[in-house]
Amino acid sequence: MYLLGIDIGSSSVKVALVEAQKGVCVASAFYPKQEAAILSVKLGWAEQHPESWWNYLKESVADVCSQTRISPSDIKAIGISYQMHGLVLVDKNKQVLRPSIIWCDSRAVPYGNKAFEHIGSEKCLSHLLNSPGNFTAAKLAWVKENEPDIFSITDKFMLPGEYIAMKLTGEICTTPSGISEGIAWDFIQNTLSQDILKEFGFSSTIFPEIKPTFSIQGLLTATAAQELGLVSGIPISYRAGDQPNNALSLNVFQPGEVAATAGTSGVVYGISDKVQYDKRSRVNSFVHVNHTSKQTRIGVMLCINGTGILNAWLRKQIMNGISYHEINQLAATVAIGSDGLCVLPYGNGAERVLENKEIQAGFHGLSFNLHTQAHLARAAQEGIVFTFKYGMDIMQQVGITTKVIRAGKANMFLSPVFTQTLANICETSIELYDTDGAIGAAKGAGIGAGIYKNEQEAFASLQKIETIDPKKTEIAATKAAYLSWENILKKQINE
Ligand code: XUL
Repeated sequence: MYLLGIDIGSSSVKVALVEAQKGVCVASAFYPKQEAAILSVKLGWAEQHPESWWNYLKESVADVCSQTRISPSDIKAIGISYQMHGLVLVDKNKQVLRPSIIWCDSRAVPYGNKAFEHIGSEKCLSHLLNSPGNFTAAKLAWVKENEPDIFSITDKFMLPGEYIAMKLTGEICTTPSGISEGIAWDFIQNTLSQDILKEFGFSSTIFPEIKPTFSIQGLLTATAAQELGLVSGIPISYRAGDQPNNALSLNVFQPGEVAATAGTSGVVYGISDKVQYDKRSRVNSFVHVNHTSKQTRIGVMLCINGTGILNAWLRKQIMNGISYHEINQLAATVAIGSDGLCVLPYGNGAERVLENKEIQAGFHGLSFNLHTQAHLARAAQEGIVFTFKYGMDIMQQVGITTKVIRAGKANMFLSPVFTQTLANICETSIELYDTDGAIGAAKGAGIGAGIYKNEQEAFASLQKIETIDPKKTEIAATKAAYLSWENILKKQINE
């Protein structure tokens, strides 16, 4: 019996086939092979075509099926993980009305900020745990005002995962976690926020029906099955944003546990059993996958838009397309602190941790006589780690104290410089696991379809690959480099 996991990322769509009983991944594939484009017609805008995700999904599923001899009728459930906070609009015939305004698009910041003021920061924070900020509801408000012709024929607005689920099942639905990532979930009322509906002038009918995260959300239609080479009727039984899903993949469900990712964006995500928030909304609180009205499970999230995307930019624009492995090797040839070169990694839209400022990326202290490609490689990785540290100090004020960070051994966690610097500056061990978002989504589907009794059973097979402990001899130098970097950041944001 097999489970299929789908991960709709911003740089690719990944699919994993998991053998349910042993909990092992037997095949996986992603598409496209080079990072997918993010379309930016104006500074701060970021769009992708939902149809492109569907096409990448078809390629990936075909690849996975060609790697194995299993019969598609042995696939018993499908789970979806997806890039969060994006906006997809469809009309009554389920036709997409415009490209998706994705998570790192900053155009809606003024709309979110205005709503924060109108509704009142105290009310927003205590009910929504966040400012509407740059999240999905604010993006929909932007469309309402700037593209009224499109808004007037919009039947439903969706997140990227909901669009893929619609393509698979023909049905449109969402989850409490999904509504909360759009900043429309009222944590006190445990339902759609009337304040957000009123403020933005949305009818509740534009929101999809809410179904539980782990539940049968629809069945694979004959049309979708034919396009994907699968069989119809497979239940779609789990759906979550990529960050709650990453936490699930790493068996992070209980208060005090912390997960991280460092893909296009970087995230630290800790679980809390208290309804809490940062007064400046620099870190965000969302419904975690196992939150219920009886059991409070909030994911407190630090998100850094400019993470792997900075490394990808360096590779493409500065390093002549050498491999990430070579970039990591270069970074390791330079001493801690990159001989005074500091990189601020903020070139991918409004950064929540900087209160949605768009200061863009910057290289500071660059000497033409001293610094080389290797310094750039190291300083970029240090800049990203230092942003993690900056945000984790804020998370601590919200009650998330990190004892151990769990992450999949992937993306920037493949770089020894990145991982060791993070362990050193946080004085925290980092555990790397053999898993990813697509495998997690497959196991989530197993829970949702009742194939696994519970989370423990689903994640009993999770394999730890290594633990990176802080190196006592490197902590002082890393802290000194952090302080220089932090001074530069504070000047840029006038603090
Ligand atoms: C999380 C976030 C990003 C996207 C990237 O809040 O915005 O991690 O989900 O896919």
